[in-house]
Amino acid sequence: MNDVSNIVILTGAGVSAESGIDTFRDAGGLWEKHRIEDVATPEAFARDPDLVLRFYDMRREAIQTKEPNDAHHALGKLEREWLGSLTIVTQNVDDLHERGGAQNVIHMHGGHLTAWCLACDGRPEWRGPLIDRPACPLCGSKGTLRPDVVWFGEMPYRMDEISAALNRADLFVSIGTSGAVYPAAGFVREARMLGIRTLELNLEPSEGSHYFDETRHGPATALVPAWVEEMLSAP
Ligand code: OAD
Ligand code: ZN
Repeated sequence: MNDVSNIVILTGAGVSAESGIDTFRDAGGLWEKHRIEDVATPEAFARDPDLVLRFYDMRREAIQTKEPNDAHHALGKLEREWLGSLTIVTQNVDDLHERGGAQNVIHMHGGHLTAWCLACDGRPEWRGPLIDRPACPLCGSKGTLRPDVVWFGEMPYRMDEISAALNRADLFVSIGTSGAVYPAAGFVREARMLGIRTLELNLEPSEGSHYFDETRHGPATALVPAWVEEMLSAP
């Protein structure tokens, strides 16, 4: 792929699955055990904040016990060694891309390791629970911190930057995402309209597989390192 210089990579829960973090829509996934409308909407938070805070407290605790896998490490290596531009856009709220060595990561659905203060609009780093309504370390307000994750019905973060990255890209790669949630699920079509080459790396065909120029199926820890080596060794 010697004609490629600018790459946008979209990742989803599948890239963290082999680190032991549950995906959402696979068998046994999070949305089988919890209803989206109970834990992942602003209405759910207004109705039963304790249930929502407890759910995210558990998730926040869980991700801190997990380690990045070979797919995260390979993407960290690609970022370090790729001579063109590389933007990783992730729907994941874990920090495994960063711990795998990537620095230029856009967390379009927010992250577990910051909280969002509804009083001061600050986003302090956060590792502990929120259920006890701790005071905001930035403004001192109590009971105003919520998970800094994007819920259904809310606007994903940094869409302007994602759009700018797509507009200058020559290759769009989607890794480990089911293509079920918009706007991320629409990036492949946006890429096609822009004339960008598209590649899917996923365990199995996703809802949008047919939109990609090329699809490869298998576990991320095998597919991603192999693809990264291919990219780095291209003449
Ligand atoms: P999903 O759970 O919907 O999809 C995970 C995808 O990863 C599926 O297509 C699996 O086949 C694939 N997969 C599973 N294990 C894999 C592996 N070891 N290697 C490669 N692929 C694997 O997760 P997302 O697409 O990330 O949003 O979900 C998108 C959004 O829906 C999430 O960000 C979250 C969720 O609701 C919000 O909460 C706003
Ligand atoms: Zn505050």
